[in-house]
Amino acid sequence: MLKTNHSQDRPYLGYGLGLRKDHFETVLAERPNVDWFEIISENYMVDGGKPLNYLDRIREHYPMVMHGVSMSIGSTEALNFDYLKQLKVLFKRVEPAWFSDHLCWTGVNGVNLHDLMPMPYTEEAIKHVVDRVSQVQDFMGQQMLLENVSSYISYYDSQITEWEFLTEVAERADCLILLDINNVYVSSYNHNFNPNTYLEAIPSERVYQFHLAGHVHENNLIIDTHDQPISDPVFELYASAVQQFGRVSTMIERDDNIPPLSELLIELQQVRDIAEHQFESQQKSLTA
Ligand SMILES: [Fe+2]
Repeated sequence: MLKTNHSQDRPYLGYGLGLRKDHFETVLAERPNVDWFEIISENYMVDGGKPLNYLDRIREHYPMVMHGVSMSIGSTEALNFDYLKQLKVLFKRVEPAWFSDHLCWTGVNGVNLHDLMPMPYTEEAIKHVVDRVSQVQDFMGQQMLLENVSSYISYYDSQITEWEFLTEVAERADCLILLDINNVYVSSYNHNFNPNTYLEAIPSERVYQFHLAGHVHENNLIIDTHDQPISDPVFELYASAVQQFGRVSTMIERDDNIPPLSELLIELQQVRDIAEHQFESQQKSLTA
Protein backbone atom coordinates (compact mmCIF):
# COMPACT_ATOMS: atom_id res chain seq x y z
CA MET A 1 0.00 0.00 0.00
CA LEU A 2 1.29 3.46 -0.87
CA LYS A 3 2.03 5.64 2.10
CA THR A 4 2.36 9.40 2.39
CA ASN A 5 6.07 10.16 2.16
CA HIS A 6 8.41 13.08 2.39
CA SER A 7 8.81 14.53 -1.10
CA GLN A 8 12.32 13.12 -1.51
CA ASP A 9 10.98 9.61 -0.80
CA ARG A 10 8.01 9.72 -3.14
CA PRO A 11 7.96 6.97 -5.77
CA TYR A 12 9.37 8.35 -9.02
CA LEU A 13 8.65 6.82 -12.43
CA GLY A 14 10.29 9.39 -14.73
CA TYR A 15 8.71 10.69 -17.96
CA GLY A 16 5.65 9.00 -19.42
CA LEU A 17 2.86 9.17 -21.95
CA GLY A 18 -0.83 8.34 -21.98
CA LEU A 19 -1.23 4.96 -23.67
CA ARG A 20 -3.55 5.40 -26.69
CA LYS A 21 -4.85 2.69 -29.04
CA ASP A 22 -3.34 4.48 -32.06
CA HIS A 23 0.08 3.61 -30.67
CA PHE A 24 -0.45 0.03 -29.41
CA GLU A 25 1.33 -1.60 -32.36
CA THR A 26 4.20 0.90 -32.48
CA VAL A 27 4.85 0.59 -28.76
CA LEU A 28 5.08 -3.19 -29.00
CA ALA A 29 7.17 -3.14 -32.16
CA GLU A 30 9.57 -0.32 -31.25
CA ARG A 31 9.67 -0.28 -27.42
CA PRO A 32 10.10 3.51 -27.39
CA ASN A 33 12.09 5.46 -24.84
CA VAL A 34 9.15 6.11 -22.49
CA ASP A 35 9.65 5.43 -18.79
CA TRP A 36 6.01 4.55 -18.07
CA PHE A 37 2.46 4.75 -19.40
CA GLU A 38 -0.78 6.04 -17.91
CA ILE A 39 -3.92 4.17 -18.98
CA ILE A 40 -7.51 5.44 -18.92
CA SER A 41 -9.03 2.88 -16.55
CA GLU A 42 -12.50 2.85 -18.14
CA ASN A 43 -11.08 1.72 -21.51
CA TYR A 44 -10.03 -1.58 -19.98
CA MET A 45 -12.84 -2.31 -17.50
CA VAL A 46 -14.18 -5.08 -19.73
CA ASP A 47 -13.99 -8.89 -19.71
CA GLY A 48 -11.82 -9.33 -22.76
CA GLY A 49 -11.09 -8.01 -26.22
CA LYS A 50 -8.18 -6.49 -28.10
CA PRO A 51 -7.42 -3.45 -25.89
CA LEU A 52 -7.04 -5.65 -22.81
CA ASN A 53 -4.82 -8.00 -24.78
CA TYR A 54 -2.58 -5.12 -25.88
CA LEU A 55 -2.55 -3.79 -22.34
CA ASP A 56 -1.29 -7.10 -20.92
CA ARG A 57 1.48 -7.29 -23.52
CA ILE A 58 2.61 -3.67 -23.13
CA ARG A 59 2.48 -3.96 -19.33
CA GLU A 60 5.16 -6.64 -19.53
CA HIS A 61 7.62 -3.94 -20.66
CA TYR A 62 6.52 -0.71 -18.94
CA PRO A 63 5.42 0.43 -15.48
CA MET A 64 1.89 1.87 -15.49
CA VAL A 65 -0.50 4.04 -13.54
CA MET A 66 -4.31 4.03 -13.81
CA HIS A 67 -6.29 7.19 -14.43
CA GLY A 68 -10.10 7.28 -14.22
CA VAL A 69 -12.68 9.76 -15.47
CA SER A 70 -15.94 8.35 -14.04
CA MET A 71 -15.67 8.21 -10.25
CA SER A 72 -17.54 11.51 -9.83
CA ILE A 73 -16.08 11.81 -6.33
CA GLY A 74 -17.74 15.20 -5.79
CA SER A 75 -21.27 14.25 -6.79
CA THR A 76 -24.13 13.90 -4.30
CA GLU A 77 -25.09 10.71 -6.16
CA ALA A 78 -24.22 7.54 -4.16
CA LEU A 79 -20.73 6.17 -4.84
CA ASN A 80 -20.91 3.51 -7.55
CA PHE A 81 -19.51 0.38 -5.93
CA ASP A 82 -20.06 -1.69 -9.09
CA TYR A 83 -17.66 0.71 -10.78
CA LEU A 84 -15.22 0.47 -7.88
CA LYS A 85 -15.34 -3.35 -7.98
CA GLN A 86 -14.39 -3.29 -11.67
CA LEU A 87 -11.67 -0.75 -10.92
CA LYS A 88 -10.25 -3.04 -8.25
CA VAL A 89 -10.23 -6.02 -10.63
CA LEU A 90 -8.29 -3.93 -13.17
CA PHE A 91 -5.94 -2.68 -10.44
CA LYS A 92 -5.06 -6.29 -9.53
CA ARG A 93 -4.46 -7.13 -13.19
CA VAL A 94 -2.30 -4.10 -14.05
CA GLU A 95 -0.52 -3.69 -10.69
CA PRO A 96 -0.10 0.04 -11.33
CA ALA A 97 2.08 2.30 -9.21
CA TRP A 98 -1.16 4.12 -8.24
CA PHE A 99 -4.64 5.08 -9.43
CA SER A 100 -6.17 8.52 -9.82
CA ASP A 101 -9.37 10.37 -10.68
CA HIS A 102 -10.55 13.97 -10.76
CA LEU A 103 -11.65 16.31 -8.00
CA CYS A 104 -14.97 17.02 -9.69
CA TRP A 105 -18.51 15.82 -10.26
CA THR A 106 -19.73 14.46 -13.59
CA GLY A 107 -23.47 14.19 -13.03
CA VAL A 108 -26.38 14.04 -10.61
CA ASN A 109 -29.93 12.61 -10.51
CA GLY A 110 -28.98 9.95 -13.06
CA VAL A 111 -27.81 12.50 -15.63
CA ASN A 112 -24.21 12.15 -16.87
CA LEU A 113 -22.89 15.50 -18.07
CA HIS A 114 -19.87 13.87 -19.77
CA ASP A 115 -17.82 16.71 -18.41
CA LEU A 116 -15.60 17.25 -15.36
CA MET A 117 -17.45 19.90 -13.38
CA PRO A 118 -15.60 21.88 -10.68
CA MET A 119 -16.67 21.79 -7.03
CA PRO A 120 -18.08 24.65 -5.02
CA TYR A 121 -15.22 25.51 -2.64
CA THR A 122 -17.10 25.27 0.67
CA GLU A 123 -16.65 23.50 4.01
CA GLU A 124 -19.73 21.38 3.27
CA ALA A 125 -18.19 20.21 -0.03
CA ILE A 126 -14.84 19.47 1.68
CA LYS A 127 -16.55 17.20 4.24
CA HIS A 128 -18.57 15.51 1.52
CA VAL A 129 -15.55 14.74 -0.70
CA VAL A 130 -13.30 13.72 2.21
CA ASP A 131 -15.90 11.16 3.33
CA ARG A 132 -16.14 9.73 -0.18
CA VAL A 133 -12.37 9.64 -0.79
CA SER A 134 -11.99 7.78 2.53
CA GLN A 135 -14.60 5.23 1.41
CA VAL A 136 -12.82 4.72 -1.92
CA GLN A 137 -9.40 4.35 -0.27
CA ASP A 138 -10.80 1.86 2.26
CA PHE A 139 -12.43 -0.16 -0.51
CA MET A 140 -9.36 -0.13 -2.76
CA GLY A 141 -6.90 -0.66 0.12
CA GLN A 142 -4.77 2.14 -1.42
CA GLN A 143 -4.32 5.86 -1.25
CA MET A 144 -5.68 7.55 -4.38
CA LEU A 145 -4.45 10.58 -6.31
CA LEU A 146 -6.93 13.41 -6.92
CA GLU A 147 -6.43 15.66 -9.93
CA ASN A 148 -7.30 19.34 -10.22
CA VAL A 149 -9.59 19.99 -13.24
CA SER A 150 -9.74 22.89 -15.68
CA SER A 151 -12.77 25.08 -15.12
CA TYR A 152 -14.80 27.68 -16.95
CA ILE A 153 -17.36 28.50 -14.27
CA SER A 154 -17.30 29.30 -10.56
CA TYR A 155 -19.97 29.29 -7.84
CA TYR A 156 -21.30 32.21 -5.82
CA ASP A 157 -21.23 29.85 -2.79
CA SER A 158 -17.44 29.32 -2.89
CA GLN A 159 -15.76 30.59 0.30
CA ILE A 160 -12.12 29.65 -0.36
CA THR A 161 -9.79 29.29 -3.36
CA GLU A 162 -9.41 26.16 -5.45
CA TRP A 163 -5.89 25.52 -4.10
CA GLU A 164 -7.09 25.82 -0.51
CA PHE A 165 -9.93 23.41 -1.30
CA LEU A 166 -7.62 20.83 -2.92
CA THR A 167 -5.14 21.06 -0.05
CA GLU A 168 -7.83 20.69 2.62
CA VAL A 169 -9.35 17.65 0.91
CA ALA A 170 -5.95 15.98 0.46
CA GLU A 171 -4.86 16.63 4.06
CA ARG A 172 -8.11 15.55 5.70
CA ALA A 173 -8.67 12.49 3.50
CA ASP A 174 -4.93 11.65 3.58
CA CYS A 175 -4.91 11.19 -0.17
CA LEU A 176 -2.33 12.15 -2.78
CA ILE A 177 -2.37 14.73 -5.57
CA LEU A 178 -2.05 14.54 -9.34
CA LEU A 179 -1.23 18.11 -10.23
CA ASP A 180 -2.22 18.94 -13.80
CA ILE A 181 0.04 21.88 -14.70
CA ASN A 182 -1.96 22.68 -17.83
CA ASN A 183 -5.20 22.73 -15.81
CA VAL A 184 -3.66 25.12 -13.27
CA TYR A 185 -2.66 27.40 -16.15
CA VAL A 186 -6.04 27.15 -17.94
CA SER A 187 -7.99 27.92 -14.76
CA SER A 188 -5.61 30.74 -13.80
CA TYR A 189 -6.30 32.38 -17.16
CA ASN A 190 -10.05 31.79 -17.07
CA HIS A 191 -10.45 32.97 -13.47
CA ASN A 192 -7.66 35.53 -13.45
CA PHE A 193 -5.36 34.33 -10.68
CA ASN A 194 -1.59 33.84 -10.52
CA PRO A 195 -0.79 30.16 -11.28
CA ASN A 196 2.35 30.35 -9.12
CA THR A 197 0.21 31.25 -6.11
CA TYR A 198 -1.67 27.98 -6.74
CA LEU A 199 1.53 25.91 -6.94
CA GLU A 200 3.06 27.48 -3.84
CA ALA A 201 0.04 26.48 -1.74
CA ILE A 202 0.12 22.77 -2.61
CA PRO A 203 1.75 20.40 -0.06
CA SER A 204 4.77 19.01 -1.90
CA GLU A 205 4.87 15.66 -0.14
CA ARG A 206 1.42 14.73 -1.49
CA VAL A 207 2.18 15.44 -5.16
CA TYR A 208 2.99 12.13 -6.86
CA GLN A 209 2.29 12.98 -10.49
CA PHE A 210 2.16 15.86 -12.98
CA HIS A 211 0.02 16.05 -16.12
CA LEU A 212 0.99 18.20 -19.09
CA ALA A 213 -1.28 18.83 -22.08
CA GLY A 214 -2.22 21.30 -24.79
CA HIS A 215 -5.17 23.71 -24.94
CA VAL A 216 -6.79 26.25 -27.28
CA HIS A 217 -7.85 29.89 -26.86
CA GLU A 218 -11.52 30.46 -27.69
CA ASN A 219 -13.00 33.93 -27.34
CA ASN A 220 -11.88 35.10 -23.89
CA LEU A 221 -11.42 31.60 -22.44
CA ILE A 222 -8.87 28.80 -22.69
CA ILE A 223 -10.40 25.40 -23.38
CA ASP A 224 -8.60 22.28 -22.14
CA THR A 225 -8.76 20.27 -25.38
CA HIS A 226 -5.74 17.93 -25.13
CA ASP A 227 -5.49 18.10 -28.93
CA GLN A 228 -2.44 20.38 -29.27
CA PRO A 229 1.22 20.35 -28.25
CA ILE A 230 2.01 21.81 -24.81
CA SER A 231 2.07 25.62 -24.94
CA ASP A 232 5.06 27.77 -23.93
CA PRO A 233 3.36 29.26 -20.81
CA VAL A 234 2.59 25.72 -19.59
CA PHE A 235 6.21 24.70 -20.15
CA GLU A 236 7.26 27.76 -18.10
CA LEU A 237 4.87 26.85 -15.31
CA TYR A 238 6.17 23.28 -15.42
CA ALA A 239 9.72 24.59 -14.92
CA SER A 240 8.51 26.45 -11.79
CA ALA A 241 6.74 23.32 -10.57
CA VAL A 242 9.91 21.24 -11.00
CA GLN A 243 11.85 23.84 -9.00
CA GLN A 244 9.31 23.71 -6.20
CA PHE A 245 8.37 20.03 -6.04
CA GLY A 246 11.54 18.26 -7.22
CA ARG A 247 11.31 14.96 -9.06
CA VAL A 248 7.66 14.16 -9.76
CA SER A 249 6.55 11.53 -12.30
CA THR A 250 5.43 13.54 -15.34
CA MET A 251 3.45 12.60 -18.43
CA ILE A 252 1.81 14.11 -21.50
CA GLU A 253 -1.94 13.66 -22.01
CA ARG A 254 -2.90 13.71 -25.68
CA ASP A 255 -6.51 12.64 -26.28
CA ASP A 256 -7.46 14.08 -29.66
CA ASN A 257 -5.76 14.97 -32.94
CA ILE A 258 -3.30 12.26 -31.90
CA PRO A 259 0.03 12.51 -33.78
CA PRO A 260 2.42 9.66 -34.59
CA LEU A 261 4.22 8.36 -31.52
CA SER A 262 7.48 9.81 -32.85
CA GLU A 263 6.08 13.35 -32.45
CA LEU A 264 5.03 12.73 -28.86
CA LEU A 265 8.48 11.32 -28.13
CA ILE A 266 10.04 14.60 -29.31
CA GLU A 267 7.65 16.54 -27.06
CA LEU A 268 8.46 14.21 -24.15
CA GLN A 269 12.16 14.88 -24.70
CA GLN A 270 11.42 18.63 -24.43
CA VAL A 271 9.72 17.93 -21.07
CA ARG A 272 12.68 15.86 -19.92
CA ASP A 273 15.16 18.56 -20.99
CA ILE A 274 13.28 21.31 -19.13
CA ALA A 275 13.13 19.30 -15.91
CA GLU A 276 16.70 18.03 -16.05
CA HIS A 277 17.94 21.58 -16.75
CA GLN A 278 16.17 22.75 -13.58
CA PHE A 279 17.74 19.96 -11.53
CA GLU A 280 21.21 20.74 -12.90
CA SER A 281 20.80 24.45 -12.06
CA GLN A 282 19.66 23.57 -8.53
CA GLN A 283 22.61 21.23 -8.11
CA LYS A 284 25.06 23.93 -9.30
CA SER A 285 23.65 26.54 -6.94
CA LEU A 286 23.92 24.05 -4.04
CA THR A 287 27.58 23.27 -4.77
CA ALA A 288 28.59 26.88 -5.64
FE1 LIG B 1 -5.03 15.98 -16.58
